[in-house]
Amino acid sequence: MTQSVRIGILGTARIAKTVIPQIAASPHANVAAVASRSLDKARQFAAEFGIEVAHGSYDALLADANVDAIYIPLPPSMHCEWMMKAAAAGKHVLCEKPLAINATQAQQMIDAAVRHQIVLLDAVMWYHTARAEVMRKTVLSGQLGEVRQVTSAFTFPGNALAADNLRFSASLGGGSLLDIGWYCVGMSLWMLQQMPERVFATAQWRDEIDLRMNGILWFPQDQMASFESGFDAVRRRWMEVAGTDAALVCDDFTRPWNADKPRFWIHNADGTSDQNIVTHPPIERCLVDAFCRLIRSGNVNHDWLTLSLQTQQVCDALLKSARSGVVEPLP
Ligand SMILES: NC(=O)c1ccc[n+]([C@@H]2O[C@H](COP(=O)([O-])OP(=O)(O)OC[C@H]3O[C@@H](n4cnc5c(N)ncnc54)[C@H](OP(=O)(O)O)[C@@H]3O)[C@@H](O)[C@H]2O)c1
Repeated sequence: MTQSVRIGILGTARIAKTVIPQIAASPHANVAAVASRSLDKARQFAAEFGIEVAHGSYDALLADANVDAIYIPLPPSMHCEWMMKAAAAGKHVLCEKPLAINATQAQQMIDAAVRHQIVLLDAVMWYHTARAEVMRKTVLSGQLGEVRQVTSAFTFPGNALAADNLRFSASLGGGSLLDIGWYCVGMSLWMLQQMPERVFATAQWRDEIDLRMNGILWFPQDQMASFESGFDAVRRRWMEVAGTDAALVCDDFTRPWNADKPRFWIHNADGTSDQNIVTHPPIERCLVDAFCRLIRSGNVNHDWLTLSLQTQQVCDALLKSARSGVVEPLP
């Protein structure tokens, strides 16, 4: 495909409001249509964001011949169903994180993408930024010595959210692990380039969702990762990769506090530290452009799918451990 990717938006989600302007700003894509369960809502949303076509059902968007790809920012419990329908309709899919609510669904989605020859990408944005690439290259370069430990935290105060927010709903696929722990788990796998052999997690539960979780991951070669996710602490999104010689620290890995100065530090053994600034376009734009590049390349079996599936497998094991209270092996 050489032309701009025509993207249809499934639902009128809050996150779509930050992604849409970056689709519109990309030379590789444009927003062709939006669908809502309510036609009035779709029309209102379309008017607000200058979208030409509004559909009153999700099926109508999938049947729209002027749409090449679907962006799915629905509650996690609905990702699998609508991704499979979009794939069957021959549309590429940019699916919000978590990719699904369990690894069985994630595998079905990946199989469907390959079967229907469409690109599926999960919408973790920071992976596709220049800063992330530099941080990962630094870790893999050996500059930190032998990597021993990855530590991360992603929390925010959920008391600002309405009680019916999807994050608090077990049936919609809520919970802190899938909502934000997903980033910590994915980052740990991406940095260490391997799967853990076993995991342990403990959680505080509210109405069957994990309001807060602490997890430990054991990897081959004595590497470990630990993380904290939660809806009950101040906004944090930091990570550290510690090696035998130095540590890489980033205090805002999923979204830079200052979009003009995405930064990270190398903490050296002698107590000195070097700050690095790696600028890049807005993270939503980096994601949209990565999605369009994959569509242009025709690579439907790309490496990001492996990372999404592995992240989901580790999340499954962490949730199992948090419920069982014991260390859970990975298959
Ligand atoms: N990548 C990121 O940085 C990022 C950031 C935030 C959120 N997310 C992800 O994006 C997804 C959406 O999150 P959000 O907070 O933006 O969601 P939201 O504002 O609650 O929107 C979800 C949309 O789904 C549709 N929907 C269909 N059935 C629904 C149901 N039973 N209950 C609620 N909504 C329903 C609604 O659209 P209609 O009523 O118009 O049909 C609604 O607007 C989640 O997977 C979340 O994890 C990603």
